[in-house]
Amino acid sequence: MDQMPKKNPILAATWGIRNSFRSILALLVAAIVVRAVYLTQNGAQFLEDLSSTMGGSKDSIHKCNLFSGQWVFDNHSYPLYKEKECTFMSDQLACEKFGRKDFGYRNWRWQPHQCDLPRFNATALLERLRNKRLMFVGDSLNRGQWVSMVCLLDSVILSGFKSMHSNGSLNTFKAHEYNASIEFYWAPLLVESNNDNPVSHRLPERVVRVQAIEKHARHWTDADILVFNSYLWWKRPKMNVLWGSFESSDGIYKDVEMLRVYEMALKTWSDWLEFHVNRNKTQLFFVSMSPTHQTAEEWGGSGENCYTETEPIIEEGYWGNGSEPKMMRLVEKVLDELNTRGLNVQMLNITQLSEYRKEGHPSIYRKQWEPLTNEQLSNPSSYADCIHWCLPGVPDVWNELLYAHIFHR
Ligand SMILES: *[C@@H]1O[C@H](CO)[C@@H](O)[C@H](O)[C@H]1NC(C)=O
Ligand SMILES: *[C@@H]1O[C@H](CO)[C@@H](O)[C@H](O)[C@H]1NC(C)=O
Ligand SMILES: *[C@@H]1O[C@H](CO)[C@@H](O)[C@H](O)[C@H]1NC(C)=O
Ligand SMILES: *[C@@H]1O[C@H](CO)[C@@H](O)[C@H](O)[C@H]1NC(C)=O
Ligand SMILES: *[C@@H]1O[C@H](CO)[C@@H](O)[C@H](O)[C@H]1NC(C)=O
Ligand SMILES: *[C@@H]1O[C@H](CO)[C@@H](O)[C@H](O)[C@H]1NC(C)=O
Ligand SMILES: *[C@@H]1O[C@H](CO)[C@@H](O)[C@H](O)[C@H]1NC(C)=O
Repeated sequence: MDQMPKKNPILAATWGIRNSFRSILALLVAAIVVRAVYLTQNGAQFLEDLSSTMGGSKDSIHKCNLFSGQWVFDNHSYPLYKEKECTFMSDQLACEKFGRKDFGYRNWRWQPHQCDLPRFNATALLERLRNKRLMFVGDSLNRGQWVSMVCLLDSVILSGFKSMHSNGSLNTFKAHEYNASIEFYWAPLLVESNNDNPVSHRLPERVVRVQAIEKHARHWTDADILVFNSYLWWKRPKMNVLWGSFESSDGIYKDVEMLRVYEMALKTWSDWLEFHVNRNKTQLFFVSMSPTHQTAEEWGGSGENCYTETEPIIEEGYWGNGSEPKMMRLVEKVLDELNTRGLNVQMLNITQLSEYRKEGHPSIYRKQWEPLTNEQLSNPSSYADCIHWCLPGVPDVWNELLYAHIFHR
């Protein structure tokens, strides 16, 4: 509101004769008129400002817990983009293209209990990212969030003014007019592992070099906004830890309990951040665990898993067995420690809100990397993907939450 008078021609003219009493009077009258007109045009905004200044029911976004809320069906303003219109949509997430016929999953808006989420404005975000790098680092769920972000921005960039480039683990989307990069770096365990190949990483044994991160991290050094995640690839009782390098033959391998290894890896990661991140410039985020819906029993469903689900879970506070509170507590502990060392990494606490969305997964409606057998075809649940998320869908909301943090926190 305080910008309004500057834009007004009456006021601009009056500034010229600023010593006369008449002009001061004119200024006052004009200001009142301008304000009245402005308020009528922006009645809703005015009421919102009023309710927040007067301590109304909606808190300001700065104070409110954005992660506590409910899903509201809203087929008026959602989805935020169309699957077919996103130039860089991934076949793993394009559920309509692969035959999904129920489309409710695209229309749910996240409504925090205490405030409203700001509306996602792609142009405003691109302006914020001018001459900057926004980088997602982690596994395929984080890649899904990156694809969602690219789709959210794609619609406001004309063709010819954007590009996509992949080089090994690094994928770069560029908005040329803004010199803005939106990138994804594949590092499913953050530290080095035998799963680091961005294409062929499905190996029976999982080996982690728990103290080695530099090979990956050197690609992140100059990023302005970093968004990390890492859970899915840890979900097994033990990990094979390698002291030494993958190349040399004298490395020492040892099976160690997963939570212990996870903590060591997070320590390596947080030490790296502490010494390499420019805290004056870089905004840091960690996305909490993305829940899976592999066991319908957990929500009292009739099927085997997420296959055939079309509605979210209504029960407030629903928590499935797949999400490991112990891992989340560990992340919180490591982030707290970083905070005491003067580095602020904000948690995007998306686990609870995504728990409700049992219908949001691709299920059988995605590209299959290998042809399905007759046995699989006769039992679709057996190959349903209840881990990743259809787009448009749940990850768009994670990005709306990221957006709210980038601008308001
Ligand atoms: C929105 O949802 C309502 C209620 O389910 C339905 O009647 C209407 O056709 C939907 N509109 C669109 C555009 O999908
Ligand atoms: C989106 O942001 C741009 C740039 O800040 C602004 O000009 C435009 O009015 C915004 N659009 C909406 C619908 O708020
Ligand atoms: C373009 O953005 C990069 C960061 O991605 C930055 O290093 C570079 O200085 C920018 N170029 C200009 C001309 O500002
Ligand atoms: C790909 O990345 C490597 C290593 O970071 C670099 O040396 C090479 O120039 C890059 N290639 C392209 C085509 O960008
Ligand atoms: C960060 O900002 C502080 C205070 O403005 C300044 O003293 C410090 O040198 C800056 N650090 C870097 C790495 O730019
Ligand atoms: C979920 O976990 C709890 C505690 O481990 C267990 O008692 C319960 O049977 C599990 N439920 C399902 C459906 O697996
Ligand atoms: C994240 O959300 C969960 C469940 O809603 C809550 O128990 C936990 O304390 C939250 N963590 C943080 C760091 O806000």
